[in-house]
Amino acid sequence: MAKRNTYFEDEKIEKKIDLKQFARILSYILPYKKIFILVLFLMGVSSVIGLISPLLLRTIINRVTVDADMRMLGMIIGAMAFIALTEITITYLHQTLMGKLGHSVIAVIRQDIFYKLQELPFEYFDSKPDGKIVVRVTDYVNDLANFFTNFVLMLITYVLKIAVVTFFMLSLSPQLTLVVFITVVPMMILVLMLRKVIGKLFAKLRAKNSNRTAFLLETIMGEKIIKSNNRSSLNHDIYVDVHTQCVDQWFQIFMRNELNGPIVELFWNIGTLGLYGMALMLILKGNSLMNAGTVVAFSAYMTQFSGPLTQIAVIIQQLAQVTSNLEQVFDTINAPVDIADESDALTLSDVKGKVDFNDITFCYEEGVPILEHFDLHVQPGQTIALVGPTGAGKTTVINLITRFYDVQEGNVAIDGHDVRDLTLKSLRNKVGVLMQDPFLFKGSIIDNIRYGRPEATDEECIEAARIIHADKFIESLPDGYNTLLEERGSGLSAGQRQLISFARIVLKNPPVVILDEATSAIDTETEKLIQEALETLLKGKTAFIVAHRLSTIRNADRILYIADKGIAESGTHEELMAKKGLYYALN
Ligand SMILES: Nc1ncnc2c1ncn2[C@@H]1O[C@H](COP(=O)(O)OP(=O)(O)O)[C@@H](O)[C@H]1O
Ligand SMILES: [Mg+2]
Repeated sequence: MAKRNTYFEDEKIEKKIDLKQFARILSYILPYKKIFILVLFLMGVSSVIGLISPLLLRTIINRVTVDADMRMLGMIIGAMAFIALTEITITYLHQTLMGKLGHSVIAVIRQDIFYKLQELPFEYFDSKPDGKIVVRVTDYVNDLANFFTNFVLMLITYVLKIAVVTFFMLSLSPQLTLVVFITVVPMMILVLMLRKVIGKLFAKLRAKNSNRTAFLLETIMGEKIIKSNNRSSLNHDIYVDVHTQCVDQWFQIFMRNELNGPIVELFWNIGTLGLYGMALMLILKGNSLMNAGTVVAFSAYMTQFSGPLTQIAVIIQQLAQVTSNLEQVFDTINAPVDIADESDALTLSDVKGKVDFNDITFCYEEGVPILEHFDLHVQPGQTIALVGPTGAGKTTVINLITRFYDVQEGNVAIDGHDVRDLTLKSLRNKVGVLMQDPFLFKGSIIDNIRYGRPEATDEECIEAARIIHADKFIESLPDGYNTLLEERGSGLSAGQRQLISFARIVLKNPPVVILDEATSAIDTETEKLIQEALETLLKGKTAFIVAHRLSTIRNADRILYIADKGIAESGTHEELMAKKGLYYALN
């Protein structure tokens, strides 16, 4: 497993524009190609139309003012109004179409990334803070949406505009066109250099923002611990630090971004002077094609030429930004799902409940084995208890049965099938886990009980709660089974949360049951009641029970003392007590 990235550590920054990511994006756009082509066509029309106005202006200056031709003036003004209206209409049309396209594409990407998140193995979530995963689904995808709805469209418009303007300028006066080009080239070089710097700063900013979100999320989730440890002011300082790094980064960007205007302005002025100088020279030389109207039209064209060019520079910078976002988004979408169904995976049905750990070795981090040559064979219907010091690997042993992680050596088998050959769905359907830290979702108690079997009726859920003796406390709540729980079930006691999760597994009634310290927070009185329920529940089922309280495990068919990367002691309660070893010492 890779080292966990944290909130004070920037995620790696991509510097290059990676065309592969764009090819990937194309596959998302392909289904909308008709809209795309229509938009392109509309943009082509609008950029040509926009260039006619300077020509009309030229006619007004050169002809109307000279001949005082009122009829022609009226016609030209009419034409200009028509052109403006057409441009506005087309702009509105292609903006809305492109917006629709962009958001449709993004919606699909969002779905894909969410779907992927649900598929990814635990290892992926172990590798970075939750906040950094969240920003991928929210912020980064938003930036992509922006890019597709605005920038792609603009890039195409600008390129078209530049091509058409160049054509118009060349046909009016090649000499003046040359002046425009000479001015614009050094300007572009400067602007591009500036953009390159800004682009890099943006990538850093993104990493800093991601750190901030990670810290924020951690703070919200750990709120109670933070308060009880009086960490608020210390955490505030950390936040100020993480946040200041973002602000500083913004400032760096801002200062450079504002240089763009003066650079363009400067060159525009130089260019205008050049235009007038060149025109004057041509007129003095007796060039009959040169006149005031042409010069005015040209300065309009110069704006229409340099404007899109500087905007393209902005887009190129955005492109670099978006590629690194794409990189992160696709890093999630493409992350290998190491734990997935094989193409010929078996569906596990009619489980007898034989569970074998065939000489397995497992590590979370390469080279640091948690279990080594762990060999365990459980017959159908047996109850196995696991005890041992904290951190010995009890949870790890049972995580391997449901394939939360895969072993590196050996294999785990159910009814003789390697768990890796089974469909995950059928495996997790047949093996019910009650985890050490039960998680409740926002919603009613009854829906939380129903979580693993959505089709269960209310009566079945209530019966499950009754079996596990959770009914008394639930019924005492103001809205009973319909009481709405807050996120993570806050508002309930830890024991109550455990009881609700317990009801979940009773309802699911899987043939293999795993209870990881499932009753640790439940009082001894209730535990005794549960004990009886457990016996009924576990009858004929294979069960793995991790527990500290020995009353829960006394009746197990076999007790394993997990220590030193394996089974240190194994036997029934009586056998182990007689042995007077590690287990005996617990009593
Ligand atoms: N997701 C994980 N990534 C890395 N190490 C882990 C992870 N989960 C547990 N460990 C390590 O594995 C060892 C066994 O943990 P665990 O099986 O949870 O112990 P326990 O016996 O208390 O249930 C511990 O040393 C723990 O630090
Ligand atoms: Mg544990």
